[in-house]
Amino acid sequence: MNRVSEEKSIRALLKWGIGQLREAHVPSYTLAAELLLLHVLGRDRTWIYSHPEEELSAADAGRYSALLRRRADGEPTQHLTGKQEFWGFEFEVTPDVLIPRPETEHVVEVALDRLAVREIRAGRRQWLAGEGLRIADVGTGSGCIAVALAKELPAATLVATDISPAALAIARRNAQRHTVATRVHFVECNRLEGLLNPPLATRHSPLLFDLIVSNPPYIGRREAGTLMREVREYEPEVALYGGEKGYEFYAGLIAQAAMHLKPGGILVVELGQDSLPAVQPLLEASNWTNIGVTNDLAGVPRVLAAERL
Ligand SMILES: C[S@@+](CC[C@H](N)C(=O)[O-])C[C@H]1O[C@@H](n2cnc3c(N)ncnc32)[C@H](O)[C@@H]1O
Repeated sequence: MNRVSEEKSIRALLKWGIGQLREAHVPSYTLAAELLLLHVLGRDRTWIYSHPEEELSAADAGRYSALLRRRADGEPTQHLTGKQEFWGFEFEVTPDVLIPRPETEHVVEVALDRLAVREIRAGRRQWLAGEGLRIADVGTGSGCIAVALAKELPAATLVATDISPAALAIARRNAQRHTVATRVHFVECNRLEGLLNPPLATRHSPLLFDLIVSNPPYIGRREAGTLMREVREYEPEVALYGGEKGYEFYAGLIAQAAMHLKPGGILVVELGQDSLPAVQPLLEASNWTNIGVTNDLAGVPRVLAAERL
């Protein structure tokens, strides 16, 4: 990277930062330079664009320059700022969790749509607050899906599982930050294994849910070389890889979902780029009905949903 700009105005430093990240071939370099400057200043976008002549202190200019260098070396912007927006809420992120992606918002959308349709079919037409609803989020990571659903359904209770205790610690903090921690119960386990209804534990009766959602690890290890450096080197492997081919996680997930859904319960899973042909046949006609696929904004089949018979 070149020496930090002599001029210390916001306008000059932002222009310099954009140039540094463009030269380093950072994707979305303008946004990244802006977000890092906002982070250093603790300000919002409107403020920096309405104070272009404001001078940064030498300490802030130095901090900005150091962050730009780390970004140019490959660290994701969200690891440098410690946050990412999802479903209109700000989530803490660290290298222990997957950075929430915009396409995962389709999982929340489809889940809410399916629940609303179920209410209409049952002849209930008022706003769905989720009274009595029990929801599970498998592989919760930062907790983004569980927290978004808990905010949308203020009377529902949720169980959010993850195999990574470090991820669960972040998810718990995100639930506290968004005031849903009393309704989201975090459990360290493999998929839904071991979720037994406490009073019935000795009879090994599974806890039953109205809705199970999951954005599982779905990248194939054989594709690792095609991933962007930011993803391959900085995001947790356990959150990325679903197996050699990528879709190996789904068979176990769908089998467990079949055991843990009430009749009429809904399953909503995010799909990898090419996983639909391998995953849809796992929804056997004897267990599942109303199967639907939702494309993301890029036209990729991204969400698979089905109802338990
Ligand atoms: C693709 S990330 C999704 C994280 C978050 N739900 C999101 O959408 O951003 C997958 C998550 O599944 C977790 N995971 C991987 N294997 C698991 C397993 N066998 N059981 C439960 N969680 C698992 C990972 O630790 C990671 O947090």
